[in-house]
Amino acid sequence: MQYRAARVIHCGAIALHFTPADPYAMQTRLTRLLGIAHPIVLPGMTYVAVPSLVAAVSEAGGLGILASGGMSADECRAAIRQVRAFTSKPFGVGCSLMLPGAAACAEVAVQEQVPVLNVSMGKDDQLVQRVHAYGGHVIATVSSEKHARSALDSGVDGLIVTGHEAAAHGGAVTSLVLIPAVRDMTELPIIAAGGFADGRGLVAALALGADAVAMGTRLAASKESPLHEVTKQMVVDKAAEDTIYSSNFDTFPCRVMRTPGGEKYTARRLSPPRVVARSLRAASEMNTPMGQLARDALREGPLQAVKIAYFGAATLAMRKAMHQGDHVQGVQLIGQSQGLVHDLPSVAEIIERTLAQGREVQQAWASAN
Ligand SMILES: Cc1cc2nc3c(=O)[nH]c(=O)nc-3n(C[C@H](O)[C@H](O)[C@H](O)COP(=O)(O)O)c2cc1C
Repeated sequence: MQYRAARVIHCGAIALHFTPADPYAMQTRLTRLLGIAHPIVLPGMTYVAVPSLVAAVSEAGGLGILASGGMSADECRAAIRQVRAFTSKPFGVGCSLMLPGAAACAEVAVQEQVPVLNVSMGKDDQLVQRVHAYGGHVIATVSSEKHARSALDSGVDGLIVTGHEAAAHGGAVTSLVLIPAVRDMTELPIIAAGGFADGRGLVAALALGADAVAMGTRLAASKESPLHEVTKQMVVDKAAEDTIYSSNFDTFPCRVMRTPGGEKYTARRLSPPRVVARSLRAASEMNTPMGQLARDALREGPLQAVKIAYFGAATLAMRKAMHQGDHVQGVQLIGQSQGLVHDLPSVAEIIERTLAQGREVQQAWASAN
């Protein structure tokens, strides 16, 4: 077997396995479950985790997760097929179950028998059973112990645990505390998200009880990322503290880059009439049928409908920052780990570098003891 342990380095509580053929290969519960080479994951970032970036991460031995947010069922199917055209390695599809269109994309993901379905913002026990029926795996994204318990009860195969440092919807508790707290609840694979951008973070995450890291900010600032070049350079230039954590952007606590646009959007919540207008504009720009949108929004009750409207309004600002590099009208989701991003290498370089640095950290510990 390619990744069978040949040499084991023990550092404190963790033991990593390296093979002579590939000295950077590292085995964990997650790599074994999914049959991937490296414990590094591209999380499902809307408008960023597109087929080419997803495939680049999976080709480099990690797990790329396609973001289905904002896609119709047909677009989602086409995107899944595009990933498969680029790579034969395992990949995932992310569905934020609360959002309009997510149920249809999840259905497509099941029909296409994707290796990994990553669910967030909700749970669906039947969906989990259907993925298991074809031999796939379900990973739930959670940002609190309460949500972790609920996801575990639904029968998922692993968790992405998102700490406070993360871009977008990290929880109230930092990765340093949340990951070991969730590890105490389960033996299933855990992917640590929020603040992980290099080999030091990878080893730290493993020491906290995780089996892999999801690197959002770091991989969004890669050569293959579809982020606008202006925005990529801003990730390089900004410091760790140049973020804002606020629930005024899309009603959920959300971390964005400190920019004129970010400051404007988080200063106060948009008024309901402007939210409805912007959300309808976003839906029409994305060719979302209005009847379907209204049905999806109202299905979960009026409170959810309001949240969905805010989400829709937020997508307009997100796309301006991501696609046009406009940080006056736009808002960029970003994590504190932007302070660890100093260049814009390829995905393969980021993964190789992360593994090499992780190994150096481990070797330094081993030789010091
Ligand atoms: C540019 C960008 C876009 C993101 N978009 C989403 C999204 O649409 N939905 C979501 O749940 N998380 C999104 N995230 C958050 C990631 O899924 C992940 O939780 C986070 O990036 C991990 O923290 P890190 O940025 O420190 O690596 C996004 C992150 C970035 C950097």
